[in-house]
Amino acid sequence: VSLLLCFLLTIKSVSSSTDNFCRDDFPSAPAFVFGASSSAYQVEGAAAEDGRTPSILDTFAHAGHFHGATGDVACDAYHKYKEDVQLMADTGLEAYRFSISWSRLIPNGKGPVNPKGLQYYNNLIDQLISHGIQPHVTLHHSDLPQALDDEYGGWVSRKIVKDFTAYADVCFKNFGDRVLHWTTMNEPNVFVLAGYDGGYLPPQRCSIPFGLNCSRGNSSTEPYLATHNILLSHASAARLYKKNYQDKQRGFIGINLFAFWFFPQKKTIEDELAAQRGLDFYIGWYLNPLVFGDYPDVIKKNAGSRIPFFTRLESQSVKGSFDFIGFNYYTVVHAKDNSISLKSTNRDYHADSAVKMTLPKRNESSSFEYPIAPWGLQRLLEYMKQNYGNPPVYIHENGQQTARNSSLEDRSRIKYVQGHIQALLEAVRNGSNARGYFIWSFLDSLELLGGYESSFGLYYMDLDDPDLKRQPKLSAHWYSQFLKSKNLTS
Ligand code: NOJ
Repeated sequence: VSLLLCFLLTIKSVSSSTDNFCRDDFPSAPAFVFGASSSAYQVEGAAAEDGRTPSILDTFAHAGHFHGATGDVACDAYHKYKEDVQLMADTGLEAYRFSISWSRLIPNGKGPVNPKGLQYYNNLIDQLISHGIQPHVTLHHSDLPQALDDEYGGWVSRKIVKDFTAYADVCFKNFGDRVLHWTTMNEPNVFVLAGYDGGYLPPQRCSIPFGLNCSRGNSSTEPYLATHNILLSHASAARLYKKNYQDKQRGFIGINLFAFWFFPQKKTIEDELAAQRGLDFYIGWYLNPLVFGDYPDVIKKNAGSRIPFFTRLESQSVKGSFDFIGFNYYTVVHAKDNSISLKSTNRDYHADSAVKMTLPKRNESSSFEYPIAPWGLQRLLEYMKQNYGNPPVYIHENGQQTARNSSLEDRSRIKYVQGHIQALLEAVRNGSNARGYFIWSFLDSLELLGGYESSFGLYYMDLDDPDLKRQPKLSAHWYSQFLKSKNLTS
């Protein structure tokens, strides 16, 4: 019989007294890492400094779409990286997930490398490593260089494959001696739908007018086309890494997807099939090509000639082009059959999926907060095991959103994170190949819909404070204590 004592986690002011697991119930680093996440535009600031040129997020923000907020200053992480890394080390982070701003490293997306951009990321990486924190780097997190969107429409053009691969090559060459975990794209399944179907994020293309001022684009084909080019770009960069760098550098490369867990609204065959279609349309859309070399049958059937087909060579290149899959998991959704939408002649992606999605009723206190459903994470990991061969998985993002200036005593965030870590532990004990967990996010940053009205951070900063001093929330203390907790078995 082993008696579990979570050393330190019993501090009552921080712990919710139900903590019954410790950091070292999980495999220790580097086999399994705990960290926190960010993305370049959401934290860096210095948007026009040292040679950086605008991305599509800058353009969108400056058009007023983030409630007037922009990433011009954000958390000023560009200047404050040293103190931030110190704070990460004090918190006990084992890994930090951040993204590189493509247009900071290669202004306008192609051509010469910007030495100041190179220097910034080298400094950040060195700083992390000298504090014993593993850098996990994302190459693209929604911030396509504006110049490439202007020139050829970004992801809807096949030309992007070459430019993305060249950018990735610069990163592997310059940072790969220290960066061992590369993610090519952050949740393409979201930015494609938001940017090329719904139009509520840049580049705001959507022919079906339920987005913001969308008049460009064709939402019946472009989400499919963009996804195809994203998969080819990912595969091209990953193949390059595997061919030229992996043996020497001993790192890993993967891709990240946003994942809801879909469950039937009612216990009917129709809704059960809708839940399966939800999974196929949202994660299978990428996972099936990556694992099996082609899109799920149901997508091919419903989209018909509007979805590009894989040539044999393309399929071979995409299939198996990853060492891990990253997931951003936040909550579950109800799936209700909406097959009637298949009758419409001018169909977009959502109509093709024939699924109506709704968030379950929330008990949470503010309208920003997600319903807390850790069981969905467990189901997702089990689904990966059963259907996709149990590949290594990182939970790249998970966290609770609250109103930005709410109390530093963010007990709802602790409850959320604690529940998900517990669920993850059970999944690992049941054989999931999960390798890490990252909280979104380390700092309260610019939210990609809510601007500065809502936030996810472990650390708060008052935007009126010229020093943007980072202030720990209760969740930062809780996470820190969890990370330092020991399992004393007897
Ligand atoms: C997913 C995105 O990757 C990130 O940019 C965003 O801030 C969080 N989810 C929270 O919405």
